Amino acid sequence: MPDARIAKQQVSDVYSKIAPLYDVWAWLTETNARRRCLELAAIQDGEDVLEVAVGTGLAFVEILEANPSGHTEGIDLTAAMLARAERKAARTGVQSYRLRVGDAYDLDYPSNSFDVLVNNYMFDLLPERDLPIVLEEFKRVLRPGGRLALVNMTQGTRWYNGVWDRLYQINPALLGGCRGVSLLPLLERSGFQKTTREYFSQFTFPSEVVLGIAP
Ligand SMILES: C[S@@+](CC[C@H](N)C(=O)[O-])C[C@H]1O[C@@H](n2cnc3c(N)ncnc32)[C@H](O)[C@@H]1O
Repeated sequence: MPDARIAKQQVSDVYSKIAPLYDVWAWLTETNARRRCLELAAIQDGEDVLEVAVGTGLAFVEILEANPSGHTEGIDLTAAMLARAERKAARTGVQSYRLRVGDAYDLDYPSNSFDVLVNNYMFDLLPERDLPIVLEEFKRVLRPGGRLALVNMTQGTRWYNGVWDRLYQINPALLGGCRGVSLLPLLERSGFQKTTREYFSQFTFPSEVVLGIAP
């Protein structure tokens, strides 16, 4: 896989610019994988759920609707993305949530805090060397038996998927810094159990949905 070309310090600037257009992009290319991720996460009302990198809140509102009596936390590095998530979350009428700026590398929660952790389209913009480090942090905050549900841009299986790799080479910011990654082997290496991976291509954009159970 090519390594990340957008540094962490640039992420907020890049996503502050993308925020107004993000939902249109997501509707064209990401809805099928995001829906499947939430289906497989199988959130039960009453659970403690964390979404890391909530973005504009597309998955967060679905989580709130599935978990009105539980507690849902959401964090993101970019305040402009979070502001949009905040507006969507307020419209659900669900009260038991908190959204705030936070960093996936250093989650501000005690160990064993959550039943489910959802994270969509974030690992694909992190440097390769950081992927296992962030996975360890996710494992730390999940309870044993907790579910980790990820969606990432991945490497495509057909020739036409390569258009996204070429766009990334020309200007990584056009793709929000995302390039294809493959998380399944890393989940296995870091001890997640019953791991599964499904592949999606929507409007030629390749995604993977990866699940694992925390040890
Ligand atoms: C491609 S968007 C995905 C947003 C949302 N998860 C979705 O699927 O619609 C990537 C998001 O990851 C956030 N992000 C990137 N690095 C992060 C980090 N280290 N900690 C928390 N959020 C991060 C960005 O601010 C941005 O909102």
